[in-house]
Formats: sequence, C-alpha cells, structure tokens
Amino acid sequence: MQQSVEPLFASFQCKTLSLPNRFVMSPMTRNFSPGGVPGDNVASYYTRRAQAKTGLIITEGIGVDHPSAIGHGTMGEENIPVLHGDAALEGWRKVVDKVHKAGGKIIPQLWHMGGVRQEGTPPHPEAKSMRPDDMSEDEIADIIAAFARSAANAKATGFDGVALHGGHGYLIDSFLWKETNSRDDAWGGDIKRRTRFACELVKAICAEVGPDFPILFRLSQWKLQDYDARLAETPDELAIISAALVEAGVDIFDVSTRVFSAPAFAGSDMGLAGWVRQLSGKPTMTVGGIGFDKELAASFAEPTRAIDNLEEVVRRFAAGEYDLVALGRALLMDPEWVLKARAGEPFRPFDLSAYGRLD
Ligand SMILES: Cc1cc2nc3c(=O)[nH]c(=O)nc-3n(C[C@H](O)[C@H](O)[C@H](O)COP(=O)(O)O)c2cc1C
Repeated sequence: MQQSVEPLFASFQCKTLSLPNRFVMSPMTRNFSPGGVPGDNVASYYTRRAQAKTGLIITEGIGVDHPSAIGHGTMGEENIPVLHGDAALEGWRKVVDKVHKAGGKIIPQLWHMGGVRQEGTPPHPEAKSMRPDDMSEDEIADIIAAFARSAANAKATGFDGVALHGGHGYLIDSFLWKETNSRDDAWGGDIKRRTRFACELVKAICAEVGPDFPILFRLSQWKLQDYDARLAETPDELAIISAALVEAGVDIFDVSTRVFSAPAFAGSDMGLAGWVRQLSGKPTMTVGGIGFDKELAASFAEPTRAIDNLEEVVRRFAAGEYDLVALGRALLMDPEWVLKARAGEPFRPFDLSAYGRLD
C-alpha cells in the first residue's frame, strides 16, 4: 500500500452503515434502465466497483414515485430508473444482493428534477414540471409523500441507507436557492423558510425508515443553470441551512463541489465540505476533480489527464475537512480505481468517447 493513502482505508460507521474504507462512488446518471427497470447490466456495473473495494456506492439519480419526477433534463437523460412498481423493485433487489455478495454497500440517490425536466418528455409527458413558484400546497404534499414512499421502498429492498439529491438546481435545491424560489409563504422568503421543503422531506423519510437508517443529503453551491451560483453567501447562511437539515434528521452531508480543494469562503483555504462539517457537526463527503487535472464541465470540452492528487485529499482529510471521499469520473472510467490508488498504480484519463459504452 502507498503509505500516503493509508488513512483513507480506515473504517467508517454511521448508524447501521459500516464501511471498510472512505472511498465512495458518486451518483452518476447512465441512462440504462429502459422502462425505469434496472437490469442485469446495472447489477454487474455496480458489482464490479464493489468487488474492487469501493467502500460505498451511491447509485445514479433514481426518479421518485411521482409522475413529474423525471424526464429529459439538460444532458439528454432517458431510461432513468425508478424505485417503485414490482419490476423496478425486483431489479433493484438483484442489484443490492449482488453488491452485498461482493462485500459492498449501496445507497440509492432519490431524484426529482423539478424545473430542469423538459415539459412533455417521457415517461409521463402529461405531467407538468415542478417549480417552487407555481406549486400548490397539494402538489408539495404529494411530492413529499412520494419521496417518503420511495425511501420506504429503498429500505424494504435492502439498500444500506437513502440519499437525497438536494443539489445542482433540481427540485429540492430550487426551493433552497433564492433565484428559483420567490414564494413569500411558509415555503419561501428568508433562507430558513426556503429550507423548509428539504426539511419536511427529510422528516417524512425519517418517519418511514426509522431512526437507524442513514440519510444522506447532497447539497451544492453550484447549479446546472449557473456554475457560479451561491446557495449560501456566508458561513452564517450555510449554518442556518445545515442546522435545519440536521434537526430534520440528515446524518451525512454529500457536499457537491466541482473542485474538492476550492476554498468555499474568503479568508480561509477550507473547502465547502469542511465548512459543512464544522457548522453541522455531522460527517461530510467531499467530491470534485479527484484523479483528474480538470473539473467535470471542462472535461466534457477538453482532453482530461489522470493525475494523482491524493496527497491533497489525504491532507485535508487529516485536517478534519471530511470523512468520506467521493469519486465520479474516476470510478466511471475504471472500476478498479480504488485498488490502483492503494497500490500506487497509474490512473486512466477521462475518455469522453468511451462514455456511454463503459460498464
Ligand atoms: C456522467 C455523469 C453523471 C452524473 N449524474 C449525477 C447524478 O445522477 N446525480 C448527482 O448528484 N450527480 C451526478 N453527477 C455528478 C457526480 O456525482 C460528481 O459530483 C461529479 O462528477 C464530480 O466528481 P468527479 O470530478 O469525481 O467526476 C454526474 C456526473 C457524471 C460524470
């Protein structure tokens, strides 16, 4: 083992979730579940990563049990899986069983695209896309109930926890972000009220899954609509959001940044995951640019080299910025990335032309 990465091979425990190391597969949409049903190829894809010592897998975004949840987004999404209905649940049961047999852990990312979903697109072209400003009380209640049902299904299917996609400008985030929420009732207005939708979701999920089942929440400053967006302008604002979510029942924050080492606020070199950890008192996961010389958006436009930046990952981990380290493109390109990190072997570059063919 490379001496320098040894700290990342320490075990981790949160409620009923116990992990052998700190490496996590970040959620990545792959468009390969026709009819919303994950097949054997999905099971093999995740199992390959579990076999090669990825401590935890967070699945691709999975549509919650509401007709407005998914459709085509900005990336040509289609064939997105769901977590309701006999066929999809049976498909996920096989995925979970195979991952568990390989010694891995797996958590589904529950997703509602909100206003990013293009109107009139399948699987439910008749459903209207949801934006905070034109949602009725009934629609809000229905969607909260849909998240809770999907979370209950996650537990019944054998998953090891549940993750909420609260970032990137999708529905949950569009309530949090002032640019997409101009309500002036209990669901909007100041930052505390904008956090209410996320908190009510988390509470409804807790009520379904009970006190021991871990709940992860992904948040991000950046949005698909605006890479420079700021959810929290200051640490004080971040403290309000994170404290409310902790009170609601969030156990782990998946802090989505484009570059894990980017300072979050002026005057400190600490990344966003570090701030959330410090302000919330909860474990955090970092992500963004690990193993590559370019961040995600740039790597879709320019050649992207593989680099070993694990020394910086470990330095910040040792300084207490985060508990878990998530990898997106690295594990997409190479199921054995964690083994290579451990052995000090070279990583593969990001190959855009291979995207969609990788398994
Ligand atoms: C092909 C692809 C699909 C993605 N889909 C999702 C998704 O469904 N949910 C999500 O929260 N993030 C998604 N992301 C973002 C990743 O989880 C991750 O945050 C991002 O790729 C940065 O990590 P990286 O620099 O290690 O790739 C996706 C990224 C890629 C490359």
